Amino acid sequence: MIKPDGVQRGLVGRIIQRIEEKGFKIVAMRLSVMDKERAEKHYAEHAGKPFYGDLVEFITSGPSVQMVVEGKGVISAIRKMNGATNPAEAAPGTIRGDFGIETGRNVIHGSDSPESAAREIALHFSDSEIFEYKRIDEPWLY
Ligand code: PPS
Repeated sequence: MIKPDGVQRGLVGRIIQRIEEKGFKIVAMRLSVMDKERAEKHYAEHAGKPFYGDLVEFITSGPSVQMVVEGKGVISAIRKMNGATNPAEAAPGTIRGDFGIETGRNVIHGSDSPESAAREIALHFSDSEIFEYKRIDEPWLY
């Protein structure tokens, strides 16, 4: 998910470019303002933590881009591409390292396990919004 700060700062194109250039396939995508109920479900594991209220308020504050991205090792690769949660500590070359300063405005979210990916995908997309297709470079990537 490209968070509201990423959308408002005009970073959507550059972030998607990194995902596509790496070789990953975007199989679902939407720009929408997440409502409070959906945001609370998305971040349910953090309910009760001190930052939870700020996180839900921020994530519902404007449009974000939700995506389903597919490819070999995609979950750990995307998390490496995103960089450390705190952008001040994220390595240069990562999305947060290149585009962020502050944890509360850290540009991007990536699912952290197959289980959380399955849960988050089901929360944001119906089956009919997720597409199967072949990228033209797939024979060369794999
Ligand atoms: S924890 O407790 O270690 O699991 O938390 P952490 O992984 O550091 O952060 C969980 C998600 O909360 C976001 N976060 C915040 N958002 C807004 N404001 C503040 N202060 C804040 N602190 C943490 C953090 O970016 C993580 O969100 P995602 O979307 O998973 O990166």
